[in-house]
Amino acid sequence: MTKKLQTPKFGPLSGMRVVFSAIEIAGPFSAQMFAEWGAEVIWIENTAYADTIRVQKNYPELSRRNLYALSMNIFKDEGREAFLKLIETADVFIESSKGPAFARRGITDEVMWERNPKLVIAHLSGFGQYGDDEYTNRAAYNTIAQAFSGYLIQNGDKDQPMAAFPYTADYICGFTVTSSVLAAIYNVQKTGKGESIDIAMYEAMLRVGQYYMIDYFNGGEICPRQVKGRDPIWAGCGLFNCKDGYVVTEVVGVNQMIEMFKTLGIEHLLGTEEIPEGTQLIARENRYAEEFEGGLEKFFAERNVEEALAALGEMKIAGAKVLEFTELEDNPQYIARESFTEWETLSGRKFKGPNVMPKFKNNPCKVWRPMPNQGMDTTDILSEIGYSEEQINELAEKKLVKIGEAPKKN
Ligand code: COA
Repeated sequence: MTKKLQTPKFGPLSGMRVVFSAIEIAGPFSAQMFAEWGAEVIWIENTAYADTIRVQKNYPELSRRNLYALSMNIFKDEGREAFLKLIETADVFIESSKGPAFARRGITDEVMWERNPKLVIAHLSGFGQYGDDEYTNRAAYNTIAQAFSGYLIQNGDKDQPMAAFPYTADYICGFTVTSSVLAAIYNVQKTGKGESIDIAMYEAMLRVGQYYMIDYFNGGEICPRQVKGRDPIWAGCGLFNCKDGYVVTEVVGVNQMIEMFKTLGIEHLLGTEEIPEGTQLIARENRYAEEFEGGLEKFFAERNVEEALAALGEMKIAGAKVLEFTELEDNPQYIARESFTEWETLSGRKFKGPNVMPKFKNNPCKVWRPMPNQGMDTTDILSEIGYSEEQINELAEKKLVKIGEAPKKN
């Protein structure tokens, strides 16, 4: 196999090949994480319509960096065979669909394993690969997964539930795909046998929503939603108003509690039946919770953000300013850790976005390629897996593949 894709060697996943067929955020976010950690990642888009992400203004440039773009009808005629040939070269295949779409179209796990027994396959869907027919084949996005999992009903304020944004469920499911694929790879390395992972978005969100929910399943208690941007069950945790902006704090811990109670002038409450010695957290249902939180509100209202944070710091209580977007990139911590980075888009535009995360000490990661155009790497990918120029042109004439080009730089 002649190497056509010139992927630089970097990161802990150098040498791994990931192929994915998924749109929008969740599946691609996982695939991109692999690409940012050094894997060679091929993004398959349908020939009929591109990934819907492409209509958005800036997000695609961020979310599709470090990828190769293949545009191919993977289910039809010779397109199907080309897909299976590509799968032979992959370590991982990630797909996101309405339920078991690949199996419905005859590309079962077994068909893929026949070509590549070590393949790790990740199926991402809203409701899973099997279950009740009424649900399994349904479409799903962020809000659907949040609503069906019991996560959404817990968010918002007391008057109205609200989905968490931006696209919380999508990102969490992306992380779930990545971590489960890596678990499977660990086992493939030991056994030589591939794996198929069934990631239902709602189940990932069920786990994320588990904290308060468990009180219901073990005692029937339904947790209230947050009030004023604060923790629904623990007083002194959450959002407070200073003179010049918002801060968050978490008054948690024995010493932190003592320090704060002294500062608020309510130390006489410590050591009482309701707040015995050694108290680490004050529950909202505590008789003195309102007095405690009222004191905190006054404490913050009398100070500006800087003063409040300095006072919290002295008491070793966790706190942070709620930063505006305008305050992020010039923050000294962001600068010191290079939390933002810049790269050039295909059209020559200077583009800024969050840097690769996390930081691998011995195998640093990087952004090395901007978002490719639809089908821009079709020719290179197909010729690498053995297709001649003539065969590729034939596939293009039959509209089974699309050959995209890089734009001229401005
Ligand atoms: N070649 C041929 N056919 C392709 C293809 C390709 N390269 N890529 C996709 N298709 C097919 C799909 O199999 C699907 O066929 P079907 O409708 O018969 O099942 C069809 O094209 C549409 O693709 P799909 O990506 O499923 O688009 P959609 O608009 O119908 O649904 C989602 C989009 C996201 C709602 C759906 O894919 C889904 O529920 N995914 C799982 C959860 C998820 O990832 N949600 C998004 C989170 S950001």
